[in-house]
Amino acid sequence: MSENRVIGAGGKIPWHLPEDFKWFRQVTTGHWLVMGRKTFESIGRPLPGRETAILSRTGFAAPGVHTVPSIEALDTLVGGDSRDVFVAGGAEIYSLLLTRCSDLFLTRVKRLVPGDTYFPPFETNFSLIGTPIETEEFVVEHYQPRPRWIA
Ligand SMILES: NC(=O)c1ccc[n+]([C@@H]2O[C@H](COP(=O)([O-])OP(=O)(O)OC[C@H]3O[C@@H](n4cnc5c(N)ncnc54)[C@H](OP(=O)(O)O)[C@@H]3O)[C@@H](O)[C@H]2O)c1
Repeated sequence: MSENRVIGAGGKIPWHLPEDFKWFRQVTTGHWLVMGRKTFESIGRPLPGRETAILSRTGFAAPGVHTVPSIEALDTLVGGDSRDVFVAGGAEIYSLLLTRCSDLFLTRVKRLVPGDTYFPPFETNFSLIGTPIETEEFVVEHYQPRPRWIA
């Protein structure tokens, strides 16, 4: 997200950062990608080397991807599979699934960007544990859920 929390503008990602794409490809290859129907349509094709699950209530279908109508159906699809599940947006799907994530890798783009889609609040539930990549244009931050102590 940008400094003003933007992740999307007019159905697209409003920046082009090849090094960030490379990082995304490296960490997600061999695993599941879960994304909303709008994000998939903006990419337009399954990303190679990954199994794609699309959330859609309207029965969207496309070659080479799995579509599920609910989180329960997503659990059935990926459950029992040893591959990791990467939640790849957009805003609706981040809001839906962030609470179950064991890790959050957040690319912060170091500028203000106009847009219409924003990353949801996560700061009260996650702690920063490292910054695996930093360039002049962006930093990747690694967060994990804050421990909850309950009696
Ligand atoms: N900067 C980044 O890293 C990044 C990453 C990803 C996306 N983006 C951007 O984010 C924007 C898209 O985000 P968005 O929030 O508008 O849309 P989205 O999250 O990609 O997709 C929303 C769609 O997901 C489906 N959906 C949502 N909740 C569901 C549920 N509980 N069960 C089943 N299906 C469900 C619905 O599809 P149906 O309408 O078909 O029912 C809904 O219209 C684009 O601009 C994209 O480029 C940015």
